[in-house]
Amino acid sequence: MYYNEYLNLKSDLASGNKTFKDYEKSLHSLINRIIIDVQQKNIDGDVKKVIDIVNSVKNIEVPAPVKKRFDNILLNESEIAQRKTILNSKPRVLYCVVTSLCNIKCIMCQIIKQKWELPERAISEINDLMPYLEIVKWQGGEVFLYKHFEQLMDAAGKNNVSQEIVTNGLLLNERVINKLINYNVDLYISVDGLTKDIYESIRVGADFDLLINNLQLLKEIKSGFTDHVMNLGLNVLVMKKNIDQIEFYPEFAKKYGFKKLCVNAFGPDFISDENIFHYNKNKEFEIKIMQIKEKLLNKCKDLNIELFDCLPTFQQQESVIENSKKDEIENDEHQNKINNTDINDMKYKISEDKVMLCHIPWQKIFIDSDGTINPECFCDRHNPAGNIDKDKIADIWNGKIMQEYRTIIANESYHSRCSKNCVTGITHIKALKNIINPNLFWWYK
Ligand SMILES: C[S@@+](CC[C@H](N)C(=O)[O-])C[C@H]1O[C@@H](n2cnc3c(N)ncnc32)[C@H](O)[C@@H]1O
Ligand code: SF4
Ligand code: SF4
Repeated sequence: MYYNEYLNLKSDLASGNKTFKDYEKSLHSLINRIIIDVQQKNIDGDVKKVIDIVNSVKNIEVPAPVKKRFDNILLNESEIAQRKTILNSKPRVLYCVVTSLCNIKCIMCQIIKQKWELPERAISEINDLMPYLEIVKWQGGEVFLYKHFEQLMDAAGKNNVSQEIVTNGLLLNERVINKLINYNVDLYISVDGLTKDIYESIRVGADFDLLINNLQLLKEIKSGFTDHVMNLGLNVLVMKKNIDQIEFYPEFAKKYGFKKLCVNAFGPDFISDENIFHYNKNKEFEIKIMQIKEKLLNKCKDLNIELFDCLPTFQQQESVIENSKKDEIENDEHQNKINNTDINDMKYKISEDKVMLCHIPWQKIFIDSDGTINPECFCDRHNPAGNIDKDKIADIWNGKIMQEYRTIIANESYHSRCSKNCVTGITHIKALKNIINPNLFWWYK
């Protein structure tokens, strides 16, 4: 089907029925439909269709800038379909902490307790992956403090890799901003207060006036570019100190040209009175949070800002705790059943159920703030797949632990190793398997 469509496009071009520009546009759309379809079929467990699509599109001539990426997607999806544990395809998503060091000391930050930087040697390994990567997410510490960061950003930019950066925004300057816009980076800036006193009391060592100057500069430079697709996101962590300012974030976002607003809550690992979701919880905060959620929703709608509200409703939070207790009991019961089940019953169950829980070990590499590598941050951090300080990414990719993850997921025996949140469905299914980037030509103007 896809190949016939391609042949028709070629003949329209040859006969003059289509201009080259129109042909190119139709070809891009065809390629995007293929990669979406093949990924969706694997997500749905339709293994035969995956192999059919891969075989039928092999002779399509794909534009050079995406050729390696396209071929890698097809190879990777066919390897997932065949449940391969040793892969010839390369990682498609890289999540990379480049340094745990920072120019400031936020009161809630755990990462800066480490003293770690991405070794220089790893840069060429990451560069080699660039033609295949669909998305790279850079994080710190503070990424702009890492002396090789621009080199990494340039390599991703030149290879049209979609980049995402989370930053405190304090080290931005004109040269860096121009690059960020040219490379269409999705930039998320964390601002935990809207006034100098609150912001600086949370982000210790930061200068609120410098932040505002940088946001102004970013807005001015961005306004000089007409055809960029850079997205700007504003991050805030809600706590006792800033709770009364949260409702005014949509106006702040609008003023400085942010398109997204991400409002986040703490997990239980941050033990402090500031953590009003776990350790300083009372009725007054609960009511405030509910009112804030509603105000944010209405204001963001009016101001055309995309809201990512990750604050729990307190009723929801209680039901999540209840559900996770229930899931724990059910999980133990399920594990008992597995332990007591005849091996033939297990085989029957596996062949009956073709949909895999997670595709991450086939697709992603996550380099953590101490150099350890895993498929994702949810995976078993006590038993990592390797360490970038001593291992090569290529060796880790097909190393013992990565193979183990692939095997246990393919065999549905992941209960012993995988995170409870993944196994019990608390982690959203789209975080475990999803279409990675539906547009291979997102950078094309
Ligand atoms: C660790 S920082 C690194 C990037 C950059 N330095 C920044 O502050 O945006 C990434 C994000 O994690 C958030 N963060 C820091 N400490 C946290 C904690 N204990 N729990 C949840 N998020 C936290 C920050 O506010 C920031 O938005
Ligand atoms: S700016 Fe980011 S990395 Fe630095 S201390 Fe704050 S949260 Fe941590
Ligand atoms: S299910 Fe969760 S823990 Fe298991 S491999 Fe996937 S992301 Fe990692």
